[in-house]
Amino acid sequence: MTHLPRLKVIVLISGQGTNLQALIRAQQTGELHSDIRAVFSDRIDAPGLERARQADIDTRHLEPADFDNRPAFDAALAREILALEPELLVLAGFMRVLGSDFVEAFRGRVLNIHPSLLPRFPGLNTHRRVLAAGDTVHGATVHFVTETLDGGPAVIQYRIPVGSDDTEDSLKFRVSRGEHIILPRAVGWCAEQRLRLVNGAVMLDDRELNQAVMVDGEA
Ligand code: GRF
Repeated sequence: MTHLPRLKVIVLISGQGTNLQALIRAQQTGELHSDIRAVFSDRIDAPGLERARQADIDTRHLEPADFDNRPAFDAALAREILALEPELLVLAGFMRVLGSDFVEAFRGRVLNIHPSLLPRFPGLNTHRRVLAAGDTVHGATVHFVTETLDGGPAVIQYRIPVGSDDTEDSLKFRVSRGEHIILPRAVGWCAEQRLRLVNGAVMLDDRELNQAVMVDGEA
């Protein structure tokens, strides 16, 4: 699909940026036909910003404390992002909830990666909650962002069995390995113009996805 122009992508992070790294790697190898135009962070010390700099990608930091309230932060963020004319935003460990005006401005153009098999465990501390609930499967989800936190329609999931010897750390490690597979894949589908959100429905190859594409990971 190299005849298509490279997809203009902006990535938003707050932390380590290992998912960002997976996107950068896929872009560098040519597996992902994207142009990551900038990486935004709400934290100046996010280690992921250094990963972007190493890859010669523009980095931007917006400090929430510099704004009077959430809508003001969201509006400034939206303004800066729009100026870069992206086709897709990827929330890759961006730990701020974006308000409805922001979501509306980019509807159908924002993907998020979340460390659970949504709709199980939206929110934080998913690995701990999986263990506490005694779930036998766990994983990660890439979904379109809507007004509901971690609630937008799912695109692709990575699933692993939970072993009796798993800990929060082991789950984090195993799940993030899968995240680095499914996130570039979903972004790749956007770059190939195969994935779209149409009236709230996920369309992949012009067919409605009634459930997320499932990728099974190792035990
Ligand atoms: C990932 O687990 C992702 O699912 C969640 O935040 C974490 C980000 O990790 N939204 P990293 O910064 O990409 O390493």
